[in-house]
Amino acid sequence: MALERTFSIIKPDATRRNLTGKINAKLEEAGLRIIAQKRIKMTKEQAGKFYEVHKDRPFYDELCEFMSSAPVVVQVLEGENAIAKNREVMGATNPADAAPGTIRAEFAESVGENSVHGSDAPETAAVEIAYFFSGTELVG
Ligand code: CDP
Ligand code: MG
Repeated sequence: MALERTFSIIKPDATRRNLTGKINAKLEEAGLRIIAQKRIKMTKEQAGKFYEVHKDRPFYDELCEFMSSAPVVVQVLEGENAIAKNREVMGATNPADAAPGTIRAEFAESVGENSVHGSDAPETAAVEIAYFFSGTELVG
């Protein structure tokens, strides 16, 4: 299988607790290469547009507040099967259901404040990468 790219966010609960390096180590140990990365602080509007697919869900407003409450680290990860591999190392959305050793099992605080975001399909990965990075920032 060809190299694939996915989009990742280290969320505010994790940056607040200074966990960027520990999370990056987990990603790298899983065979994912961090080919682009920057620390930014999203506005609530930016978070709202990013999570627009969830706009009718009951947690949407709280999610957008949370994602704009402190800095995040946005990343592009590259590797064989990167989208599925990243979802695997992230663990289930609810940390109570996340497999041992996954990022969310080790670090997440709750279903909402769950330390990381990862794209769920090639189409969403492409859109999410382009939302935060220009082509010249991606050096594989
Ligand atoms: O992040 P993931 O793809 O695993 O889950 P999602 O279903 O796409 O939901 C996006 C984000 O919304 C989650 O990562 C949580 O931060 C938040 N969420 C929440 O606060 N409460 C839920 N019941 C489900 C999701
Ligand atoms: Mg999702």
